[in-house]
Amino acid sequence: MEPFIEQVLISEEIIQAKVKDLGKKISEDYLDKGEIRAIGILRGAFIFMADLVRNIKVPLSVDFMSISSYEDDCETTGVVRILKDLDKPITNRHVLIVEDIVDTGLTLKHLKEVLATRNPASLKVCALLNKKEKRVVKDLVIDYCGFDIPDRFVVGYGLDFAERYRNYPFIFILKPEYYQKPGQV
Ligand code: PRP
Repeated sequence: MEPFIEQVLISEEIIQAKVKDLGKKISEDYLDKGEIRAIGILRGAFIFMADLVRNIKVPLSVDFMSISSYEDDCETTGVVRILKDLDKPITNRHVLIVEDIVDTGLTLKHLKEVLATRNPASLKVCALLNKKEKRVVKDLVIDYCGFDIPDRFVVGYGLDFAERYRNYPFIFILKPEYYQKPGQV
């Protein structure tokens, strides 16, 4: 095992089985609705998004938004900035927001409010990880949720610490000595 891994929280096999289940459920729900516009929230959701859409068996198109809620450390500031907006309008589209993780819920709340003003036909959310203990926005609805996880800082499968570890195909907890900026370890 890699020296920086304290614990593998969710293995690659378990993630892939869950992504398959989510894709099946979404496919069933949208069968009669028409095309899905899946919106991946960069950067954390890029790997989940790629796996998820390959398991959705109804017509689908993709777009991406880049949002910043953390200022390069582990704490949320509550400030959500749109760094890159969607390329295409979503008016009358069945929008599915794809997120890697929901912590406080501030990012998703803001995002849902912004996208709702653009008059989509429907607006739903699929998030791989849900850290309920950290939730600030109590009434947030996650329509499709992969795993409820404890309040630990997790990386891998798209999630980073200081832009590292996104490339690992499983989700894990870092050893404390690795919570340092690149170049310091
Ligand atoms: C993460 C994640 C969500 C947000 C959730 O993104 O992808 O967008 O934080 O946090 P919240 O529920 O407390 O608002 P992050 O800002 O780490 O950027 P990244 O996706 O580029 O890694």
